[in-house]
Amino acid sequence: MLAGTHQTIRKADHLIFRTPTAGDSPEVHELLLRSGEMESNSRQCYLLLCEHFPSTCVVAEKQGDIVGFISAYIPPDRHDTLFIWQIVVIEALRGRGVAKRLLRHLLSRPNLKRIRYVEAMMSPSNEAAQPLFRALAKQCNCSLDEMMTFPADFFGEENRGQGNLIRVGPINSVSKTLIGRS
Ligand SMILES: CC(C)(COP(=O)(O)OP(=O)(O)OC[C@H]1O[C@@H](n2cnc3c(N)ncnc32)[C@H](O)[C@@H]1OP(=O)(O)O)[C@@H](O)C(=O)NCCC(=O)NCCS
Repeated sequence: MLAGTHQTIRKADHLIFRTPTAGDSPEVHELLLRSGEMESNSRQCYLLLCEHFPSTCVVAEKQGDIVGFISAYIPPDRHDTLFIWQIVVIEALRGRGVAKRLLRHLLSRPNLKRIRYVEAMMSPSNEAAQPLFRALAKQCNCSLDEMMTFPADFFGEENRGQGNLIRVGPINSVSKTLIGRS
């Protein structure tokens, strides 16, 4: 394993959760293109995410194929916060807890032990993403706050109501240890 990488393997369903590499970025881009519901950015964008932010991103791999992905980063002036930018799971594996496991994998990484809040921007009408973050708050026994951040016109024609910010926390270290084991 490369220095600084973190990998979890669950033998039961052969899913591997690991840090992405630059070589994963074309497949990650394809995954986003195929997801249907999510805006896909340029291939270069995913290359830079995998190359510059692997410690806050995660891929789920099944038999050599990438089946899930989270891109996230720590806002430079808020070291206790992990901002989830995109989260996606292939359609065939949705509803089986893969997204929850992607999140749990990230939060259990040693380099993210200072994280106390998880944030994401999304549309209030996203029926799958809202329950995902509610489930995280429940599991960590903490609050989920929702607030408007940016006006719709900031997003122009791409506006899908993603100006809503969801904030889960504070997540204490005991909860993080427990979710890392679950
Ligand atoms: C959002 C997404 C990543 C969820 O992935 P997933 O692997 O299916 O989610 P999980 O199986 O881990 O489910 C997490 C929670 O959400 C709930 N959930 C998942 N999909 C749901 C749906 N369509 N409707 C209602 N609840 C749903 C699950 O029941 C679970 O809650 P629980 O623990 O209380 O039972 C997936 O639907 C996806 O890729 N959607 C397209 C991209 C997208 O919209 N991303 C989010 C933008 S921020």
